[in-house]
Amino acid sequence: MMIKKVNFFLFCLAILHVSLPLFGQETFNYDEGKVGEYTLPSLLTSNSGDIVTNEKEWKQRRAEILQLFQENVYGKCPGKPKHIHFEIKKINKNALAGKAISKQVRIFFTKGNKGPYMDVLLYLPSHTSKPVPVFVGLNFKGNQSVNTDSTILLSEKQPELSKYTKKNDPMIRGNQSERWEVETLIENGFATATAYYGDLELDYPEGWQSGIRTSLQTELGIKPDEWGAIGAWAWGLSRITDYLETDKQVNPKKIIVHGHSRLGKAALWAGANDTRFAAVISNNSGEGGAALARRWFGETTNRINTNFPHWFIGQYKTFNNNVQNLPVDQHMLLALIAPRPLYVASATEDLWADPKGEFLSAKNAEPAYTLFGKKGLENTEMPPPDTSIGKTIRYHIRTGKHNILLFDWLQYMVFVSSNLK
Ligand code: GCU
Repeated sequence: MMIKKVNFFLFCLAILHVSLPLFGQETFNYDEGKVGEYTLPSLLTSNSGDIVTNEKEWKQRRAEILQLFQENVYGKCPGKPKHIHFEIKKINKNALAGKAISKQVRIFFTKGNKGPYMDVLLYLPSHTSKPVPVFVGLNFKGNQSVNTDSTILLSEKQPELSKYTKKNDPMIRGNQSERWEVETLIENGFATATAYYGDLELDYPEGWQSGIRTSLQTELGIKPDEWGAIGAWAWGLSRITDYLETDKQVNPKKIIVHGHSRLGKAALWAGANDTRFAAVISNNSGEGGAALARRWFGETTNRINTNFPHWFIGQYKTFNNNVQNLPVDQHMLLALIAPRPLYVASATEDLWADPKGEFLSAKNAEPAYTLFGKKGLENTEMPPPDTSIGKTIRYHIRTGKHNILLFDWLQYMVFVSSNLK
């Protein structure tokens, strides 16, 4: 009898072992055949069980979804600080060989000029008679990394990161310029604004201690653990927008937020919270960004929370081994952008970000757009590489690695021009 019981126990364990990867996702998977079944939470079914059928009802449902993301994934999202103010540090009317005007602006978040700040670099095309659309995104290595322009002020915060990570990361002008098509944007009549993400929070597990989650807790009325680094970066994107709204050369109705990878996650969260962003672009944002969490492919919720414990709130970690119980999935985040134009982009070699999961997420956000009579991706199949599809929601998968390159930028410019008339 005893032996039988033990055998039955072992049998159960064996079953559990087989099914754990499907549900617990404790390891990552690159085999499409092993993805398995999953059911997404219903986008248009309200918490009380009613089906949303029009714009008005969506307004309420949208608020519910936003709250679910705040409570379970990214944390609270504070508003504009009362004493925010701007100091123009430098204007160059002859930037980029006369093609652009550059402005470098320090945004102070508290009274006076001793408190925390972020440094914004803005390029505007020089030969325009009317306010221009602007692309806004954070950068990974300091403003001086986006272009070789020697007039860009060196990042003050970036060297601090190396102290903690012990990685020697010297500041080299333009070493991220491949990712920042500044000249192309300017030549096509767009402005571009950026700031170093570490001005808000340095990207390592204890970075919050020296970042705005600590220094602004009284000013913003929020405790450091009530939000995460992604939330802090997203908040910073909105503060850049606070400045841009005051700049007469910028069209405040055409502020486009974008971001690559972890900063793509931040761009999506910023776009969800702040409807001043007229369009939102997610480039290879993957897990915790555009990709579906329940689809077991590439990075998992468990992995992201383990490797980057500072990005999301503690509650998100409670779903590490039972992502199927998460009350949201990422198609609902994308739906929060509706009816505004949304671009989701993947790359063929970026399996970690799960391109198919990003596509399916965009596809499953469509019903929210339909409520507004907007066309989404339409296609149910992923397009071949290097082909963009869709209208108000657009998608492409670029040939190549995890990156943001000229091909991506060319699509984004066309997308913005055709959607923001
Ligand atoms: C890691 C991480 C991803 C993230 C990426 C990046 O690969 O696992 O979630 O998007 O870094 O930001 O480059």
